[in-house]
Amino acid sequence: MDPFAEHPEVYARWAERGPVNVHYDRPAILRLVGDVRGRRVLELGCAGGTLTSLLAGRGARVLAVDREPRLVAAARARLGDRARVEVADLERPLTFVADGSVDVVVASLVLHYLADWAPLLAEVRRALVPGGALVFSLHHPITGWLLSDRTDYHRTELVSEDWDWGERWVTARLYRRPLSRIFGDLRRAGFTVDEVDEPLPEPAADLDRELAGILTTQPVFLFVRALRVTA
Ligand SMILES: C[S@@+](CC[C@H](N)C(=O)[O-])C[C@H]1O[C@@H](n2cnc3c(N)ncnc32)[C@H](O)[C@@H]1O
Repeated sequence: MDPFAEHPEVYARWAERGPVNVHYDRPAILRLVGDVRGRRVLELGCAGGTLTSLLAGRGARVLAVDREPRLVAAARARLGDRARVEVADLERPLTFVADGSVDVVVASLVLHYLADWAPLLAEVRRALVPGGALVFSLHHPITGWLLSDRTDYHRTELVSEDWDWGERWVTARLYRRPLSRIFGDLRRAGFTVDEVDEPLPEPAADLDRELAGILTTQPVFLFVRALRVTA
């Protein structure tokens, strides 16, 4: 069972204060996104809208989507009229997004739930203006490899990980894929890679010793900014 579908309210609360989201993922995503004032931003996998709220607070005009209706309801309650939030499955065409209507697509910690990126990347390319940016984070392929049975690096495969969401533990299943697949899919979909980041947590972050040790020494997430080629 998908923990986001099973316990959406628990995740919405956890995403607000979870140290990995707050001090590691979102700062890196926001740095790669850059100045969004007046920019049209499409956010994929918005969950309860915490990142959405930060983007809107920086002046972006945000359309945020998630597959889970109860998370979309939580995001709408949080955001009011500061952003538009819709239920959408990223494995289906984003028919309500017009061609070339978006300046930046943000996908924080969602692409690893998709087995095949090609259909979504085609949709992202269609939605973006030429030169527009796709900024995303995902579980680092090295961490994914350590979670796998390590019998075949070259395949894309489901791996499982147990996570503490504060109020309960959950087991998530996500796709690990080789690096050549990540960057090959981007190139084949018409993107050039502008920046890759493997950041450290925020220096001032109040992290417990064990988590600080992991985040400062291990490759936990991979962050990428890719640009839609103009031709
Ligand atoms: C780890 S959360 C994202 C966290 C969020 N970006 C934040 O900063 O708070 C992953 C989200 O992806 C959503 N998701 C997973 N698969 C999806 C799909 N196929 N289509 C749309 N949303 C999906 C889940 O419902 C969940 O809300």
